[in-house]
Amino acid sequence: MSPSFDQAALAALVEVALAAADGAPTLAELNEIASGLKAKDAPLVLIRRSLGQIDDLEERKVVGQQVSSAFDALGRAIDDRRTSLEAEARIARLEADRLDLTEVILADVTVPLRRGHTHLVTQTRAALEEVFIAMGFEVAEGPEVETDWYNFEALNIPPGHPARDMYDTMYLELGTPETVLLRTHTSPTQIHLLEKAVAEGSLPVHAVMPGRCYRLDTPDARHLPVFHQIEGLVVDRDVTFGDLAGVIETFTAAYFGSDIHARLRPAYFPFTEPSAEFEITCTICRGDGCRTCSRTGWIELGGCGMVDPAVFEAVGVDPTIWSGFAFGFGIDRCAQMRHGIADMRALIENDLRFVRQF
Ligand code: PHE
Repeated sequence: MSPSFDQAALAALVEVALAAADGAPTLAELNEIASGLKAKDAPLVLIRRSLGQIDDLEERKVVGQQVSSAFDALGRAIDDRRTSLEAEARIARLEADRLDLTEVILADVTVPLRRGHTHLVTQTRAALEEVFIAMGFEVAEGPEVETDWYNFEALNIPPGHPARDMYDTMYLELGTPETVLLRTHTSPTQIHLLEKAVAEGSLPVHAVMPGRCYRLDTPDARHLPVFHQIEGLVVDRDVTFGDLAGVIETFTAAYFGSDIHARLRPAYFPFTEPSAEFEITCTICRGDGCRTCSRTGWIELGGCGMVDPAVFEAVGVDPTIWSGFAFGFGIDRCAQMRHGIADMRALIENDLRFVRQF
């Protein structure tokens, strides 16, 4: 005769195990309890293994069912506890990661709070716009991402033209290779403006066009790979080179002061004919020659010239009625010369000791 199964002992066992699972304080401890329950020598496992010793078939069946529902109940208890421990851990993690976006800067009454202000380059751009607005120009802007046509072809620089070497161009990986680029100068804005004026029948045009430009240059005292230019365009009746020279002269005196001189030297640009380079006295050495001006005493600001008929043709302006001049020069270079900044890289280093001087 087999010993009668001890129901009370089984119930007590299950109760203890359930309480342990319910009260497991951490996931690690819960995992330990879960694997302990399935261990070879665990009481419930032993009971299940000894079921075969119960001779009475009916009793064996009943006890077997009790043991398996005990396993089920324990499995559920462990799952439930795991779910709630994981939720607690997630909440704790979120709590720890929370960012306080309402930072309070406690005022120190002995140190006045500093406000930010516009960067020197932005101030310079605004000052240049003011000078040209006073001379009767309007201000326009164009896109920084251009197609080859606007940046080169419409400006009389067809593919393979040697003038392309003047511009170390950054191309975008977009569409056909080498067709979409970051503009290397603000001159493509001339094309946009003329296209619009032709479409609207709104010629003449007197405009300046400031903006950011890009060239694959290594930064040095006078060059930045991302820099700013301001373009000028006048298209009207009977415009002459004398008008261009007058505008450059007037601008130089108005912006730099009457002690700084400008000179035009013959140069070549495919989109102007004749063309000139526009230089001013180096303000770092006052013309004596220094590192910044490569010992020449002059600093090149930009280029200018009479609009080439090929440009008028590209945009559909009738060159028998209209003539014009264009110029373009560096805004950063102007800031450098006006404030005697020996090295242009200071403009992008964001050293507050520099930035706060302006
Ligand atoms: N776009 C020329 C440059 O960046 C400058 C320029 C503008 C020359 C307008 C002539 C007329 O080098």
